[in-house]
Amino acid sequence: MRRKLAAGNWKMNGRLADLDQLDRIMAACPAPAADLLLCLPATLIHPAAARVADHALRIGAQDCHQAGAGAHTGDIAAGQLMDAGASAVILGHSERRADHQEDSATVRAKAEAAQAAGLIGVICLGETLAERDAGHTLEVIGAQLDASVPDSATGAVTVIAYEPVWAIGTGRIATTEQIAEVHGFLRARLIARFGAATGGAIRLLYGGSVKPDNAAQIFAVTDVDGALVGGASLTADDFCPIIAALEAS
Ligand code: PGA
Repeated sequence: MRRKLAAGNWKMNGRLADLDQLDRIMAACPAPAADLLLCLPATLIHPAAARVADHALRIGAQDCHQAGAGAHTGDIAAGQLMDAGASAVILGHSERRADHQEDSATVRAKAEAAQAAGLIGVICLGETLAERDAGHTLEVIGAQLDASVPDSATGAVTVIAYEPVWAIGTGRIATTEQIAEVHGFLRARLIARFGAATGGAIRLLYGGSVKPDNAAQIFAVTDVDGALVGGASLTADDFCPIIAALEAS
């Protein structure tokens, strides 16, 4: 049985003053029936982790370097994120793949580093609109999955997020049929590679314009174990109804 996961991604948003949103989420969900994770900018991880210490809400990061330490100006190692209080890290988000030329081999190395440091890796996959329109979605997603997910993946330390690039930040959401097709494909491919136990235990999140008004229909789709939420995770007013929809699913 996979435990549901509502994960937020604040991207490059938020200041210390915005951490009051965490208090509001914790107050609204005193005993959540799903795992809750907010992946914050690096500057907010340590104060946020201290703030949620007595609650089930967990704090994550949005990227890490694949090396454990060294001469990599501006980068952050997985062990440093752990040290700051993170328990998870998003890896291979399409904005990192596009803006920082991260390929799947790099994402895999980062996922290995995250696992070695004790962090859950939330590995992101997604096709562009051109790839979907050309009928290449499953081919692209399958190749990204194979190359981005390490052989050491387990249900405890690995989460996969399917995020169609064309649905991120656009208000345009994939249909439930499109989500069902990709999630079913991912589940089958994970089971083929890792076996029924491990392949069946890795959680699959959908991401891309998940909002309070569309969350319930997404969570009703087979093999959707939760969501990776961008814009609607920035405020408790938007994120809490999404959590409630997940808990009710
Ligand atoms: P969005 O972002 O919910 O704002 O579309 C999702 C994501 O990029 O993880």
